[in-house]
Parts: sequence; structure tokens; C-alpha cells
Amino acid sequence: MDQLTMKKMAAEAALKYVQPDTIVGVGSGSTVNCFIEALGTMADQIKGAVAASKASEERLRALGIEVFNANEVSSLDVYIDGADEITPQGYMIKGGGAALTREKIVSSLAKKFICIVDSTKQVDVLGSTFPLPVEVIPMARSYVARQLVALGGSPEYREGVVTDNSNVILDVHNFQILEPLKMEQTLNNIAGVVTNGIFAQRYANVTIVGTPEGAKIIE
Ligand code: 5RP
Repeated sequence: MDQLTMKKMAAEAALKYVQPDTIVGVGSGSTVNCFIEALGTMADQIKGAVAASKASEERLRALGIEVFNANEVSSLDVYIDGADEITPQGYMIKGGGAALTREKIVSSLAKKFICIVDSTKQVDVLGSTFPLPVEVIPMARSYVARQLVALGGSPEYREGVVTDNSNVILDVHNFQILEPLKMEQTLNNIAGVVTNGIFAQRYANVTIVGTPEGAKIIE
């Protein structure tokens, strides 16, 4: 079975977590695009959405779903987003689409993080298959890169990418993240780092995995 079909399966299974008359937190990426399509079938039942990227905002509006600013809501029942890697504990690497900062903000507003992935994203140790994205203030790029090398990583500047917040991304290769909570904090303490793509403090409460055998829900 191809990856997109597995993504769609996970995305459609997430609809059962969306309650009528609520505002839904929506992430970004190709799996989330499948979720937005599915959410379109409930457009007249929900109040609207808060989106984690400009791209997701546009897709939601195109389906007639009202988009709220994160400052307009005090909390969300659920936040639904994909991941680049996820462990059995629900720890994730995110930011392949460079939307990690807004994803961390919107997911922090939510009571439950529902992560939708295909089975290729499941790992035992973060950093096994995907480099760790770090969003950095442009003037701090070289300084932060040196600190990441000192921590054992191999940072690579993501050429030509500017985030929705006008910052740059360093992708850190060769970084086995054995203690996600600790590493998330350590990286956030480097001056010039806006956000790193480890989602451990805000882990996934529910993981929905699209597999060739169907959508599997891990609570
Ligand atoms: C964007 C993200 C995405 O959720 C992550 O990259 C997964 O993307 P996709 O669903 O396209 O595989 O974190 O910043």
C-alpha cells in the first residue's frame, strides 16, 4: 500500500475526535492536508479552526471553515497534526514543513494532541531516520550551528527556506535523541533558538497510524 493511502486512513480516523460546535487545532503537512479534506465534510458542524501554518489556513478557508487567530481562543479540545517521527511514548520530531514553532504554540493550547502518521514514521529512538529541525533567528545561525556541533549533531542550513515567522531552519543530522525531554530543554536554552522540533513536553496523547491493515489507534 502506498504512503498517501496510509496517511489518508489515519487522517479520516481522526475525525471521530472532533466534537460538534468546537474550534479544532489543525497542524500542517501532507497528512494534515488529508485531514483538512475530511474535516470539510463537517464544515457546517464545527465553529472553526486554529491553524499552525498559512498553508493550512488557506486550505481550511477554501472549504468554508472559519479560521481563528490563536490569540482569540483560550483552549482547544483537540489538536490534530502529523509528525516526521514518533516513538511508542508519543514523543515526536516535527518541522519537516518548517512550521514547528506555530505547531508548538497551537498544540500547547490543546487538551489532547492527536498525531496522525503512516507506519513509516514509527521509531524507537528519535533522530533514527529524520534530521531534527531547529528554527533559528537569522543573525544567530552560525552561533547556534556551533552549539549544535558541540552537542554532537551535524547541522545543515535549509537553503532557501524562510519560516512563517521570518526565521531560518537548521536540520541536525546524526543526532540520536535518547532523552527527548532533556534535549528539548537544552536546545531551547541556546540563545537564538526559537523552537526545536522535539515535541516531548507536548507529546501526543493519541497516535493514529495508517497501516496496510487499516488505521490503528494507540491511546
Ligand atoms: C510540518 C510538520 C509535519 O507534521 C511533518 O513534517 C509531517 O509531514 P507529512 O504529513 O507531510 O509527512 O511537522 O512542520
